[in-house]
Amino acid sequence: MKKYSEQLLLLSFAAMLHFSFDTHRPVIADKEPAAAPSLWSLNAEQLKGDTLIHVAYDPFFKKDMSYKAFPLKENLMMVMGEQEMSPDMQVIFHCTDGYRPHMPLQQVLKSNGFLAYRDVSLEEGQEWADSLSSKFSPFYLVWPEADHNDKTFATPYGLASIELKPASVEFSAALPDDDTVIQGFELFSNTCMRCHSMNKVGGSMAPELNYPKNITEYWTKENIWAFIQAPTSFRFNSKMPPMTAIDEAEFEKIYDYLVAMKDIKRQ
Ligand code: HEC
Repeated sequence: MKKYSEQLLLLSFAAMLHFSFDTHRPVIADKEPAAAPSLWSLNAEQLKGDTLIHVAYDPFFKKDMSYKAFPLKENLMMVMGEQEMSPDMQVIFHCTDGYRPHMPLQQVLKSNGFLAYRDVSLEEGQEWADSLSSKFSPFYLVWPEADHNDKTFATPYGLASIELKPASVEFSAALPDDDTVIQGFELFSNTCMRCHSMNKVGGSMAPELNYPKNITEYWTKENIWAFIQAPTSFRFNSKMPPMTAIDEAEFEKIYDYLVAMKDIKRQ
């Protein structure tokens, strides 16, 4: 039944706005979709509501910014049509560099996110600075009304497509069998999975942490904790940002989850 309603959802997506869905997933080529593919490729020519927005404190630029942008909620609602969504529906953001954060659909629909495509302080014809251009295009997701310290809002750049999937489908391969580590799973899925994968579920920007070998089989607990607090103290050019929002008690939960997944290799 669930499968069937997902099919309907996809058909209505395609019918509403004539979007095509990538079946071959160029962004994450090494990963097979867990369910029917439902990638909505963002295309400025199909998005509605082009507008000018102001962000009082941009978390990337660390200052106020103004952008040309499209409203996320309105465009998402157009794509979704009148379909009823399961309460655990997730919005998954696919970026060109393999970054892949997710947010509950309910949170996205309650908030005013914008798909920014142009910094208006740039001169006409001028693009994002070279180093930033490759990073930010095609879209950068911003939340002008959200508290910039609220980490539950995803702010991906290089955002190329959006996917809707119930959490039960998206995360099934990464779920522990043992309920006692479920908090660790939740922390992991909200903080680490945007970059790392677990049984191939999650981002492809950073290494897989379970398959074929679990990270706890070749890294000590002490080193994992030290690494996530200060990655550049291990590698001068580490691409991983320090996970300052995670305290030691939370790390213990994440670690217990990682250990529990050692014997659960799902593909
Ligand atoms: C913004 C992306 C990002 C996030 C979020 C992130 N990591 Fe990483 N992580 C990386 C990248 C990239 C590497 C690859 C190595 C490097 O650049 O040093 C890495 C490497 C690692 C490594 C070393 C593995 C290896 O062999 O290189 C561990 C362990 C690790 N991360 C754990 C975590 C944990 C646990 C979390 C969540 C609390 C987390 N990371 C969140 C990007 C991320």
